[in-house]
Amino acid sequence: MSSNIVWHNAAVEHDERVSQKGHDACLLWYTGLSGSGKSTIANAVDRKLYELGCHSYLLDGDNIRHGLNADLGFDDASRKENIRRIAEVSKLFIDSGLIVGTAFISPFKEDREQARAFAGDKFIEVYVDTPLGVCEQRDPKGLYKKARQGEIKHFTGISSPYETPEQPEIHIKTNEQSIEASAQQVIDFLYTKKIINRNS
Ligand code: ADX
Repeated sequence: MSSNIVWHNAAVEHDERVSQKGHDACLLWYTGLSGSGKSTIANAVDRKLYELGCHSYLLDGDNIRHGLNADLGFDDASRKENIRRIAEVSKLFIDSGLIVGTAFISPFKEDREQARAFAGDKFIEVYVDTPLGVCEQRDPKGLYKKARQGEIKHFTGISSPYETPEQPEIHIKTNEQSIEASAQQVIDFLYTKKIINRNS
């Protein structure tokens, strides 16, 4: 970082932005295997939040890799950089008073903990727990098949590890409930923690 850069304090403070929105800001950090349902559930939550009148925004792995992170691959260093950038962007969105969702495999515990450190007590880890066998069977993009055939290297769950979250704030077992119920589980958590309230 250049030593000739000076931090400017914002004229509008975070608390002012939050009180204007009528609900708290937070970061819903969805993590899970490819094909586990992260994006689907995160989008269902986002829709519910919108209908409740909340201000939210979703950063989705595949989409962000088309733009901001288009230069990154899937080796360990690239995944780390992927998550670092997302955590930085999320921090800005949180500062703006939004309920931020991020849907990335984010396979490494250390990187998720870095994101948690950035977001502090606003961080909510949402483990989208779908067994590898189920993801592989769904294989919506045909990627597991390619990975098994050795056409894709470093594929999470096949040739690259996924480190299971140990104490996620929200644990979604997609095998046991519908997408609707999973989305509601997240919304209920936000009510319980008073991040949103009935008048949001
Ligand atoms: S992360 O590991 O860096 O967090 P991210 O969520 O951004 O991954 O991107 C994952 C998506 O990229 C997968 O859902 C899949 O569609 C695609 N993909 C392409 N190559 C790989 C790979 N080697 N491992 C995992 N996902 C891959």
